[in-house]
Amino acid sequence: MSKMWGGRFNKSTDTMTDDFNSSISFDQRLYRQDIKGSMAHAKMLGKQKIITPEESELIIKTLGEILADIEAGKVEFSIDMEDIHMNVESILTERIGDTGKKLHTGRSRNDQVATDMRLYVKDACAELQADIRSLAMTLLDLANKHTKTIMPGYTHLQRAQPITFAHHLMAYVEMFKRDLKRLGQVVEMADILPLGSGALATTTYPLDRYYVAQELGFGNVSMNSLDGVSDRDFCIDFLEAVSVFMMHLSRFSEEIILWCSSEFNFITLDDAFSTGSSIMPQKKNPDIAELVRGKAGRTFGDLLGFLTTMKGLPLAYNKDMQEDKEPVFDAFDTAKICAVTFEKMVGTMTVNTEVMRKSAAGGFSNATDAADWLVKHGVAFRDAHAIIGKLVFYALEQGKSLDELTLEEYQAVDPVFDDSIYKAIDLNTCVNQRDLIGGPAEATVKRAIAINKGLIGGKK
Ligand code: ARG
Repeated sequence: MSKMWGGRFNKSTDTMTDDFNSSISFDQRLYRQDIKGSMAHAKMLGKQKIITPEESELIIKTLGEILADIEAGKVEFSIDMEDIHMNVESILTERIGDTGKKLHTGRSRNDQVATDMRLYVKDACAELQADIRSLAMTLLDLANKHTKTIMPGYTHLQRAQPITFAHHLMAYVEMFKRDLKRLGQVVEMADILPLGSGALATTTYPLDRYYVAQELGFGNVSMNSLDGVSDRDFCIDFLEAVSVFMMHLSRFSEEIILWCSSEFNFITLDDAFSTGSSIMPQKKNPDIAELVRGKAGRTFGDLLGFLTTMKGLPLAYNKDMQEDKEPVFDAFDTAKICAVTFEKMVGTMTVNTEVMRKSAAGGFSNATDAADWLVKHGVAFRDAHAIIGKLVFYALEQGKSLDELTLEEYQAVDPVFDDSIYKAIDLNTCVNQRDLIGGPAEATVKRAIAINKGLIGGKK
C-alpha cells in the first residue's frame, strides 16, 4: 500500500520494516485523544481562515463519525498506516476526499503525538486519582471501626509500642494522599500544549495556539518548539508517580502477607481474595497481595526503561520516543487493576482483634511507658531505661509480661515503684496518652479520620 509519506521513495518498505516501525498495535488506544486534538486543530484552521469554514465543519463532523465508529468497533486499523495519527487521517480522507487532506496543514505528527500523549497522561492521572481516593475512603471506613483495636507497632519488625489498627491504616492513608498530590503535579507538568511546534520549528501558517489550548483544556502552550516536540518529562513524571504509588501498595501488601500467616494471624482474607494450592489441601494463599507486590517491580521497570530510552536523544524528535507509549500504558493498567483489586481485598478481610491485642500485650510493647512512669517519679530517662531493661530481663526469665509482675518484684528492682505503675502500663493508657497530633490515641485518630474524609471524599 502506498505510504502517506511515500513521495520521495521509489521502493516500498519491507514488510518486516512495517511491522517493526508501526505503533498502531498499541497506540490505537490514543484514538480519542488523537481525534479530539484533530478536531480542535481543524476548528482553529477554520477560525484562522487557513481552510474554509465549510471544510473545517466537514472535517470536524466526519472526525466525530469516525470516533463513534471506532467506539462501536466498526473500524479496522491498518498496519500500513503505521500509527493512530495516519490511520485516522487516512480514514478521514477515504470518507471526504481532498478536504480530509487539509487537516494536517500546519501540523506534524511530532507535535500531534506529543499532544495526544499529554492528553492521555492527564486523563490517566484523573482516573488513577479517583481509584486512589476510593481506596483511601475504604481505609478510612475500616480505620473508623478500629480506633480501639490495639495492636503492636513495629520497628525492625520487632514489637515496639502499642498502637491501634486504625492508626496503622491511617499511615497508608497519608501515603495515598501524597500519591494524589503527586499525580496532581504530573497533571500540571502535562498541562502544556505542544501543538503548533510543527515538526520542530513551528510553521509559517498563522495558527492560534492559545485557542487550541483552550479548546483542549490546556493551561498553557509550550514556549520552545524543539522542546515542545521532544519533551517527555511528563511521561517520566507519570511513571515515577505510579511507581511510588505501587511502592506504597507493595509495602501494604507485604504487611497483609505477613498478617495472614499463622505466625501473625492478625487478619483473615476473604475466600474470594485468596487461592488454594494444587497439592497442599490446607493452604490459603494471599496471591492478590503477592501479585500487587510483584507488579510494583514491573512499574519500576517501565520507569527505568523509558528514562533510559530518553537519556541519549539529541533534539528534537527521534523515533525512539515512540517507546513512551507501552510503558505509560502498562504502568497505568497495572496501577489501576492493583488499586481496584487491593481495595476489594482489604475491604473484605476480617480483622482478628483479639490476636492483635494479645500480641501487643505479649511483646513488652509497654516498656517505654514503664520507663516514662519512672521519669514522672523523678528518675532520669537513661536510668529509667536501664531499670526497665533489668525488669524486662527478669520478666523474660519468669515467662511473664510487665503487667504480670507483682509489686514486690517491681520494688525488688527499684523501691520507687508503687501500684500506679499498672495503670501506666495498661495498653489502653499507653495508646490513649499519646494524643499529640499524629498519635494513636482514639480521639486523635478519630479527628484525623474526619479531617481526611473531608479532604479526600470532598474532592470526588
Ligand atoms: N508513531 C510516532 C510516535 O509515536 C508518531 C510520530 C512520528 N513522527 C515521525 N516523524 N516519524 O512517536
